[in-house]
Amino acid sequence: MTDLVRDRAAALALLHEYTKSEALRRHGYAVEAAVREYARRAGEDEAAWGNVALLHDFDYEIHPTLDEHPQDGAAILRERGYPEWFVRAILTHANHLHLERETALERTLFACDELAGFVHACGLVRPDGIATLEPSSVKKKLKQKAFAAGVNRDDVYAGPELVGVDLDEHVATVIVALRPIAAELGLRTA
Ligand SMILES: [Fe+2]
Ligand SMILES: [Fe+2]
Repeated sequence: MTDLVRDRAAALALLHEYTKSEALRRHGYAVEAAVREYARRAGEDEAAWGNVALLHDFDYEIHPTLDEHPQDGAAILRERGYPEWFVRAILTHANHLHLERETALERTLFACDELAGFVHACGLVRPDGIATLEPSSVKKKLKQKAFAAGVNRDDVYAGPELVGVDLDEHVATVIVALRPIAAELGLRTA
């Protein structure tokens, strides 16, 4: 039997149980892909890191406010048997909880969350999705406040330092990570 933290089928089933919105499911897939890419490069546990990312917003649909998400979701994860380090990593993505991002996993999740959403949004308005998307174009769009206005720019700009790269490299990594799952993200493929 696969250890729960590394069991993607179980994580995916839990995401789908609580999240009916395709857009929110896709957000989970996008952040998962980005975090997995960083895990792979760092020689970390891709499967476990990926599941943390896949589930980081799993309760958002039922807990859409800051007084519930993600802290009430954490209780569900504990009930399902996820260990404290896994649950804590998810809690640290929420700025309003003011938790220190202590581990590489926690820093990577935060660094990828908003940027994966933003790269996804960039791809949705392009004829070939993210197939030819360049970091320069993403950076230009970041400066357009009206574009994907829900994405917190401060969080995006804080990301590179957390994962020890510059913004160009961070954006390039996220783009590369998302390309193989472009179709699952609802993006046109070249
Ligand atoms: Fe969240
Ligand atoms: Fe998120």
